[in-house]
Amino acid sequence: MSPRVLVFDSGVGGLSIADCIHRALPGVELVYLADTGAFPYGEQPESLVVERVTRLIARALADQPCDVAVVACNTASTIALPSLRAEIAVPVVGVVPAIKPAAARTGNGRVGVLATPATVRRPYLDRLIQEFASHCSVERLGHPGLVQWAEGLVRGVPVPEDALAEAVAPLRAAMVDTVVLGCTHYPLLLDSLRRVLPEVVHWVDSGEAIARRVRYLLDLAGHAGPAMDQRPGAGPVLTAALFSGAAPEGLNAFAERLGLPVGQVLPGWGS
Ligand code: DGL
Repeated sequence: MSPRVLVFDSGVGGLSIADCIHRALPGVELVYLADTGAFPYGEQPESLVVERVTRLIARALADQPCDVAVVACNTASTIALPSLRAEIAVPVVGVVPAIKPAAARTGNGRVGVLATPATVRRPYLDRLIQEFASHCSVERLGHPGLVQWAEGLVRGVPVPEDALAEAVAPLRAAMVDTVVLGCTHYPLLLDSLRRVLPEVVHWVDSGEAIARRVRYLLDLAGHAGPAMDQRPGAGPVLTAALFSGAAPEGLNAFAERLGLPVGQVLPGWGS
């Protein structure tokens, strides 16, 4: 049987992480779970996010057993991992802003962190910056528009690049040469981000590091070799996509373009 990994986000951002996992581990089946009933997490109280993440992931694993659970959402990972780990038996991988690699790459010592309004306020981010980037000047930017624009892309709505340019103007003013994409929705906007901030040299996200961590955990669980590295057939990569609210319009076509064909889509799941 193929190894199976659950990928969780509030919306479609987790597809950027699913994409990295699939490229690195084409033999792994993915189950996608999104809390579209409470999207966006960037504007929700912490207690609500912790409760929903823990409950929905535990329930999804009971329905669709997986070997590893990935919380492919920075906003949730910065607060919900301890409660989730206490609740479920499978290993959990969280996604947090990639401050360390960004601090290692910057040439001018100026780093931007682009994330949701909630993530930029979190003490977790203060600690990451203090530990890994205390020698850099770090400009944090939390903007509510970007996740909505990424969701719009899935429905076929082009990114409003004038509004995006205005949203990221503080990063231009801070003359950063490196930007951390501290929200999993943002890699979906990368083409537009490159156009509106052409002076940025390094765009850093956590997708590849997450895929490496998943491989390590699956290895530990005994899924070595071909089980992870070879796609078993032409079937769906996301075998099931569960949504606590509505399923995003345009999901199948968008995921297909990313190379992640979707099997069963279940809106209104778990509520
Ligand atoms: N994709 C999520 C993240 O990585 C959050 C989006 C949201 O719900 O605000 O932070």
